[in-house]
Formats: sequence, structure tokens, C-alpha cells
Amino acid sequence: MTKPYVIDEMISAKSIAARIEALAGEIKDTFADTDKLVVVGLLRGSFVFIADLVRELDLNVEVDFLEASSYGDSMETSREVRILKDLRGEIGGRDVLVVEDIVDTGFTLSHVTQLLETRKPKRLETIALLDKPSRRETNIRATWTGFEIPDEFVVGYGIDYAQRNRNLPFIGKVRFT
Ligand code: IMP
Repeated sequence: MTKPYVIDEMISAKSIAARIEALAGEIKDTFADTDKLVVVGLLRGSFVFIADLVRELDLNVEVDFLEASSYGDSMETSREVRILKDLRGEIGGRDVLVVEDIVDTGFTLSHVTQLLETRKPKRLETIALLDKPSRRETNIRATWTGFEIPDEFVVGYGIDYAQRNRNLPFIGKVRFT
């Protein structure tokens, strides 16, 4: 059970849409010479972001998903990341964009990119909708970031609190009442 809380809007749906349009332009320029870009969504939090992002990307794209999970108590930062669901397709010699919802400590994105690099993609870049730089415990930095946010627990636009609130159209901050 979760304690009672309210959600205060932090980033509006309109701001998210505008930022995604700008990011898609930069991604398109970076991968301008690609035959097909493999867009890898990290489940589950990136599912809304990836859906909006690929619809703004004027490139041939293939969409694949990977699910990584931390071990242990979800209230504790875990340094161990395990792969619950691997990609369906091969990425060797291909252009790849990994899509993450939030980079917090950075362990998830760091582990996933290290794993995918062993498969020898032609080029591998990363994008995170949100970044909490003050929480970082690794050297990882996404190639593109939507918004830098303070150390607040956020929900919405695919991101959950105990599997709730993923369907909010905006990013909101959880405030316990
Ligand atoms: P990291 O491995 O510490 O960077 O954690 C990244 C993952 O933690 C994200 O993909 C989210 O699933 C989760 N996470 C981090 N911050 C938040 C938050 O504010 N709300 C909900 N989930 C979060």
C-alpha cells in the first residue's frame, strides 16, 4: 500500500510535445545517413515517450524493447541490474537509439549500454526524457535529455509510482499528504 499523496504538475503535456519535436530534429540530423534506426525502448517507463518520439522521427525506424530491472527493495537504489526481457532483433552493425524515461543513479542506462555495445552496433546513442543529475552515481550521460529535474519523485507520461499514474499526460511530482 502507498501512503496518500497528491500530484503537482511539473512539466505540461504541451511542453513535452514541443521538446520531443526539437529532439527528433536533432536525432534525425545525427542519423541522417541511416538505412534504418533501431529504436530500443526500456520497459516499462519509456512506452509513452517512445510512442511520441518515433512519430516525430522522419526516418525509417524499427522498434524493439528491452526490460531491465533492479534487484531488491524498490525503495532502495540497487546497483545490480538484470535483464528481464531482451531484444527480439539483432543490433550488430546497426544504428541504435536507446530510449529511457529517467536517468537517476544511472545504473540502468549504464548497464544496458554496456551490454548492447558488446553486440557491436554501428552506432549507439541514448535519449532520456528526464535527468536527475544530482542523483547520479555513475559517469553515464544520455546523448540527449528532454528535461533536467531536481531530486523529486515524479510520475506520469509512462512513469509510475507503484504501477500507478503511468497514464497521466503530463509529468507530475508526488507530494505525500
Ligand atoms: P537508475 O538506474 O537509478 O538511473 O534508475 C532509472 C529507473 O528508476 C528509471 O527508469 C525509473 O524506472 C526509476 N525511477 C527513477 N526516478 C524515478 C521517479 O522519480 N519516478 C519513478 N521512477 C523513477
